[in-house]
Amino acid sequence: QPPLRIGLIGFGCVGQGFYDIIQQQPALGLAITRIAVKHPAKARTLAPEQFSYHAEALVNDPTLDLLVEVIDDPAEAFRLVSAALRLGRRVVTANKAMLARHLPELVSLQQEFGGTLLYEAAVCGSIPIVRTLDSYFSHEPLHAVLGIFNGSSNYVLTRMSEAGTDYGPALAEAQAQGFAETDPALDMGAFDPRSKAVILAAHAYGVFLNPEEVLNLGIEHIRAADIAHAAAQGQKIKVVAGLYRLPNGRVTALVMPQLLGPESPLFTVEHEFNGVLIEARYAGPQFLRGRGAGGHPTGSAVLTDVLALRRGFRYAYAKRATPPEIQLTEGLELN
Ligand code: HSE
Repeated sequence: QPPLRIGLIGFGCVGQGFYDIIQQQPALGLAITRIAVKHPAKARTLAPEQFSYHAEALVNDPTLDLLVEVIDDPAEAFRLVSAALRLGRRVVTANKAMLARHLPELVSLQQEFGGTLLYEAAVCGSIPIVRTLDSYFSHEPLHAVLGIFNGSSNYVLTRMSEAGTDYGPALAEAQAQGFAETDPALDMGAFDPRSKAVILAAHAYGVFLNPEEVLNLGIEHIRAADIAHAAAQGQKIKVVAGLYRLPNGRVTALVMPQLLGPESPLFTVEHEFNGVLIEARYAGPQFLRGRGAGGHPTGSAVLTDVLALRRGFRYAYAKRATPPEIQLTEGLELN
């Protein structure tokens, strides 16, 4: 069987992580035959002749079996991914901001033109949460899906509490390790976990939320004194993103810092790790925990999508038993 020929668009932290894993595992039968990047002058780990500077050329290249899009810019990502789907292509993306904004359109492009889009790497890095909700729990009415969906802000909170590191240096560490977005305000202001919550809502509840309508509060105003005060009571401050089904069947979403005690599994989620709690009616509670950011963990999630595409997998976007409507203002009336 000839290797699957992959066109890689983007060679940042995630693109390099993905490339690296494939080089280390030749038995997978995958070949990255073209790589497109934006800036010719940037220093890279591969020779300049390995790169193309025209991503469109990859989108239109019939010798490629599938495309992996791991660039930063959501508008450019949407332009490329939607063009590829119009050609009926198989595509993997990790671009959560793009997905959160354009998911309904991306789903209908797949239906219309027969292509496939997978994006496990877009939500919680290495944690297999999209396919878990989409496939494994497709039959389950879910009471809630909540957790820590942003590695960078969790890293900053952890460093501020364990070492008394100030906010600025803690953020610089997260950036140096490749966890943070190019614009770290997306992490610290909880826009990034909001995108992830919106994506999960499509798979947990079959609903497409408008990210602009989901309340997101970040950690910019949390001071060392707040963390110390929480610690004195045996608690931690964590940014929790949540999707909750209300007693009336509707679903609400919000992202905000919360005080958590040791009774919560999320209490143990530190540094760049993410955690997801699923409250399912029949299965009961489930907890998944893993690295939410970084080149290799996220590259591994991209790779699992490539292998799933080769097997012919596509998302079901299952219709749940009670199709919920969204009413965001009811978010605080839980219990
Ligand atoms: N900036 C993101 C985070 C990367 O910190 O979680 C993974 O999506």
